[in-house]
Amino acid sequence: MISLNIEKTLGFISKENVFAYEAQVKAAQEALENGTGKGNDFLGWLHLPSSITKEHLADLKATAQVLRENCEAVVVAGIGGSYLGARAVIEALSNSFAWLQDKKSGPVILYAGHNIGEDYLYELTEYLKDKKFGVINISKSGTTTETALAFRLLKKQCEDQRGKEMAKKVIVAVTDAKKGAARVTADNEGYKSFIIPDNVGGRFSVLTPVGLLPIAVAGFDIEKLVAGAAAMEKACGKDVPFAENPAAIYAATRNELYKNGKKIEILVNFNPKLHYVSEWWKQLYGESEGKENKGIFPTSVDFSTDLHSMGQWIQEGERTIYETVISVEKTQYSLQVPSDEANLDGLNFLAGKHVDEVNKMAELGTQLAHVDGGVPNMRIVIPALNEESLGGLLYFFEKACGISGYLLGVNPFNQPGVEAYKKNMFALLNKPGYEEESKAIQARL
Ligand code: PA5
Repeated sequence: MISLNIEKTLGFISKENVFAYEAQVKAAQEALENGTGKGNDFLGWLHLPSSITKEHLADLKATAQVLRENCEAVVVAGIGGSYLGARAVIEALSNSFAWLQDKKSGPVILYAGHNIGEDYLYELTEYLKDKKFGVINISKSGTTTETALAFRLLKKQCEDQRGKEMAKKVIVAVTDAKKGAARVTADNEGYKSFIIPDNVGGRFSVLTPVGLLPIAVAGFDIEKLVAGAAAMEKACGKDVPFAENPAAIYAATRNELYKNGKKIEILVNFNPKLHYVSEWWKQLYGESEGKENKGIFPTSVDFSTDLHSMGQWIQEGERTIYETVISVEKTQYSLQVPSDEANLDGLNFLAGKHVDEVNKMAELGTQLAHVDGGVPNMRIVIPALNEESLGGLLYFFEKACGISGYLLGVNPFNQPGVEAYKKNMFALLNKPGYEEESKAIQARL
């Protein structure tokens, strides 16, 4: 189970003021439970962990097995909430060099549809040329340009290389039950498909087939992931007292920090495998809270790597930041620092120590330095990088995000701001139906 420690924020804000949020948090929890708050048509994520059925998990695992048996590579096509959750879990659990190893335990997982990079897509299609590959096409709307464009390329290539019949077997759709191009294509072509529930928004969808199917294809245990999330659903439930509820404390602390001028939250890890968990978290909090001209700006760093770049700014730059550190208690493997007779690097004082002991001291030293430098610091400890811990961590952040958005007074479940660029892009590309916008935008250039 994860634990949260806010002690090192308390020189900057008071515990009393954090606990003063208790009634507001209770109201936010009730609004989530009773569906009486803003965005209440998007609360399907709230009890997902405890309501996922064994049959649903078995269906996902069976489909994952078909892809694992018939593919050397599987491309996960999706963007934003239809991509980041799966990647966060897969990268956190995978061997860092899995894709370079000759003997693979399953298909290589690749990603597309999350950018419009011509070179990226060219290189991907080149790589796939001599591979038996499959595709998971993930889009709730079924019309997202980035994903649809990548899927158009991949579908054709898969059919050309593997034939229509095999393509049908190794292309899977995760999309709306009824609407959108991805649904129509899946039904017309006879693809196996999974439904993204109407009431679950993209950034809260990691525990739907959006996240679960790719994670299962990558060979990880989705039952354990869901079990970890279900345990956290309980631990963050509305009847858990404020002081014992990590989601409540996190939401209250970040809102109190924000009130005190700390406008930027930096999610920190000391484990490179957590990079995409931070990417997922940035979307979750950025899209949920950044609206109505308010909201904490979520950003992230990978330490100790970024201590050699962003460390200077964090230590001595503008004092509008705070850090939330994710600390992983136990490593999966063990590696000790060897002794060296010449000791030219002067590191013999570390000989015999585990690499993680050095990392943990870097973590502690950094925390103390940053607090001394005026940066409040929260710490989330997870026991290990495994399915249970990650499931718990993801649900913890989701629940806290719902509460935090309500404390801030915004609708945490919409994202009206993401439409502006799309409208301009379609106008600039002369998309049919955008004639007026095209004229207006051309006049501005
Ligand atoms: O959180 C969100 O709603 C977005 O990030 C979407 O997930 C993203 O834009 C992809 O949308 P779709 O699944 O409709 O392709």
